[in-house]
Amino acid sequence: MADVNVALIGYAFMGRAHSNAWRQVGPFFSPKLTPRMKVICGRNAKNVKAAAAQLGWEEAATDWREVVARKDIDIVDISTPGDSHAEIAIAAAREGKVVFCEKPLANTVKEAEQMLAAVKKAGVPHMICHNYRRVPAVMLAKQLIDQGKLGRLYHYRGTYLQDWVADPNVPLFWRLRKEAAGSGALGDIGSHSLDLARFLVGEVTEVIAALETFVKERPLPDNPRKKGPVTVDDASASIVRFDNGALGTIEASRFAPGRKNYNAFEINGSKGSIVFNLERLNELQVHFNDSKPGKQAQGFRTVLVSEADHPFWEHWWPQGHTIGWEHTFVHELHHLLTAIAEDADVAPHGATFEDGYRAAEVCDAVVRSSEEGRREAIPYR
Ligand SMILES: NC(=O)c1ccc[n+]([C@@H]2O[C@H](COP(=O)([O-])OP(=O)(O)OC[C@H]3O[C@@H](n4cnc5c(N)ncnc54)[C@H](O)[C@@H]3O)[C@@H](O)[C@H]2O)c1
Repeated sequence: MADVNVALIGYAFMGRAHSNAWRQVGPFFSPKLTPRMKVICGRNAKNVKAAAAQLGWEEAATDWREVVARKDIDIVDISTPGDSHAEIAIAAAREGKVVFCEKPLANTVKEAEQMLAAVKKAGVPHMICHNYRRVPAVMLAKQLIDQGKLGRLYHYRGTYLQDWVADPNVPLFWRLRKEAAGSGALGDIGSHSLDLARFLVGEVTEVIAALETFVKERPLPDNPRKKGPVTVDDASASIVRFDNGALGTIEASRFAPGRKNYNAFEINGSKGSIVFNLERLNELQVHFNDSKPGKQAQGFRTVLVSEADHPFWEHWWPQGHTIGWEHTFVHELHHLLTAIAEDADVAPHGATFEDGYRAAEVCDAVVRSSEEGRREAIPYR
């Protein structure tokens, strides 16, 4: 078993989730490449040193440029806000590193295109962290769809709802500023729902959409007495068409009181339907038109996705000993490490920079549609 040295850029929310996954993937999945948590990077020397000690990294660093240029680093894991993804990913690709990047890939279509071009030119493995693809119940949904169990697909009804910025006193931090985040609910959580739509149903070809910002000004983080403008959407609602004729809706909002991390979808096909909700992530609801004992007792039933032959479960616990949100990142890293070791494609089950670029095109079309009040075809390159 060979070691691969990992550098993680960013050590807050996603930095902690990724660190946990790098720690767990070896012991639980025995990947062909063993990751070594070599260096974690942030801007504040004292804080990043503390993060290295707490999260289990060998070294701490404050300059990501030095880190990505290091000869002993094989994988660069980017868990910073969207405004730095392009610069770090392009530099890492030029240095020949494997690049694992948080979503959304970039804040603009142009940046996403440049990132895609950079990893292609360098020929390096790359993946975006669309970890919800790797919830066991979602992967089971994928298998059922690919086996034709739902028949012809008619609908994708995706909603990703949260409520944590609904309070108008939440300060104007980076996720509420366009220059840092690119967009609001749309790119932050809508991008996950869109990725699941593309993963499970098909390519999005056109969209008609509306965006809204409900709270237009918020207290400044370092001076709460002053307010500044919110420059991103609080919510987005889109109607999408797929290349296979299916019709979808994708709604994302951070203004849905009571919804904490409600990443949910329903898919309807000619032979049945499936329903998933991240707040109950070990469950998949299924309905099949031909299920026994006949029409009178038809309806949805709930499958507890935890059997040894369910996706990813051979690596975890006996049936019914449920897993959580953090495990999806472990599954992501196992997928990436396997692709590197076997010189295999990260696609189609992993999200690549091509997926990130395509998602950026769809998000851009959503913004244009909302601004101009018309239907937009997606102009993929
Ligand atoms: N996959 C998921 O489920 C999921 C969930 C939340 C966030 N995200 C994505 O992860 C990324 C990070 O989000 P977060 O919630 O962890 O943000 P965060 O604010 O909690 O953390 C960002 C980190 O990046 C560091 N950072 C910022 N600029 C930097 C720079 N130039 N150099 C080095 N470090 C820098 C910050 O110091 C901080 O450690 C975003 O792209 C976000 O959309 C993904």
